[in-house]
Amino acid sequence: MVEWQKSDWRKLPRVQMPDYVDAAALEKVEAQLSNYPPLVFAGEARALKAQLASASRGEAFLLQGGDCAESFEQFTADGIRDTFKVMLQMAMILTYGAKVPVVKLGRMAGQFAKPRSAPTETKDGVELPSYRGDIINELAFTPEARIPDPLKMTQAYTQSAATLNLLRAFSKGGYADVHQVHSWTLGFTESERAAEYRNMANRISDALDFMSAAGIASHSSQELRTVDFYVSHEALLLEYEEALTRLDSTSGKWLAGSGHLIWIGDRTRQPDGAHVEFCRGVQNPIGLKCGPTTTADDLKVLMARLNPDNEAGRLTLISRFGAGAVGDLLPRLIKAVQEEGANVLWTCDAMHGNTIKSSTGYKTRPFDSVLREVREFFAIHTAEGTVPGGVHFEVTGQDVTECTGGVYAVSDEDLSARYHTACDPRLNASQSLELAFLVAEELVSHRQGRKKLDDKCEPAVFASHSAV
Ligand code: PEP
Ligand code: CO
Repeated sequence: MVEWQKSDWRKLPRVQMPDYVDAAALEKVEAQLSNYPPLVFAGEARALKAQLASASRGEAFLLQGGDCAESFEQFTADGIRDTFKVMLQMAMILTYGAKVPVVKLGRMAGQFAKPRSAPTETKDGVELPSYRGDIINELAFTPEARIPDPLKMTQAYTQSAATLNLLRAFSKGGYADVHQVHSWTLGFTESERAAEYRNMANRISDALDFMSAAGIASHSSQELRTVDFYVSHEALLLEYEEALTRLDSTSGKWLAGSGHLIWIGDRTRQPDGAHVEFCRGVQNPIGLKCGPTTTADDLKVLMARLNPDNEAGRLTLISRFGAGAVGDLLPRLIKAVQEEGANVLWTCDAMHGNTIKSSTGYKTRPFDSVLREVREFFAIHTAEGTVPGGVHFEVTGQDVTECTGGVYAVSDEDLSARYHTACDPRLNASQSLELAFLVAEELVSHRQGRKKLDDKCEPAVFASHSAV
């Protein structure tokens, strides 16, 4: 195969990317970013890949979550801390409930560029280019705000570097120590689930006390004191991605230095398009959104292109069909994967197929639809004998009112109270934790379901063993 160059995507059709008007300004920013340090390192991307490979075999479980779109205006240390905290809590609920290691992957430190359903937006008879995320243009509805500005890439880089710096400190500096499980409490002031979280935290503390009484030094164990926390984003703005791509001297392979995992969105996965071309050449783990329009044939081509060596952990298929549609759409993609003998990790994005307009005019997602899609995803994988390896949510640690439902029963009328998202509606901390408990239950029953099926096959296996 002809050698891959990080700029090859430029020769191919591109969609969902801005047309910058000032070519000189764009080149200047690209040159500058090309000299800046990468945000992530090849060893980290390889470590994540190994963990995703475990998840694809059912030996771990992926939790991917964070903002739909990060924002310049809402960038604060507390915001990062709270999203990190809610991810840690969700991970702890899953680890404790389902007894499985959880791979933690934020939609953070680079999740700025957004695909849009239409190139323009019309308000009161005025038509302007659509808002495409803070790395490209601005949300304000004025002609100036909507002009793509390449300098915003530098701001996104700086914000991502600062975000990662804090995340690295939280992950390794004591904050994520499991002995702190009580202090992460966030999201439930008083509810049944709050009590459930406290109970779980008490039981974990008890186990740690027991270990230390028994002379097992849990305080010095790296596994208990620190976490691995990775970051991911949609690789949409390819000028930014290319500028941060570096040759890794250890492996001699290219690395997208913008984030540990990058994914290809539902609108940019044309097999012969620019986004697939870019992603195929970097060694990072790659995510691929699979939606209602993904055909089995497309998927086969994409798997061959993105993972020609069939490496485990390289490709994560993120299904996002919408509640009620999984049973119709997922089995044929599972079949395509099986026919190719492809190594993939299956995860469920239970958000993007469930967006509706509320009666009060806000874009929202009903908690019950999100849960229903997760349950359908698990049911299909249990029936097919495949591995439901992870979940993907849009969440925030902030107490927002963007998705309806959950224990506090956010209603259509409540949405206006704290609707802050820069793009799609996110689950708030309380809804996220509630969902984590419910996903843990799904994971446990999937394993029991699998065990029952395996037990049914046991006599044959037993017979052949006893014959030896
Ligand atoms: C997203 O993840 O925010 C997104 C736009 O998803 P999709 O490409 O699946 O629509
Ligand atoms: Co989104």
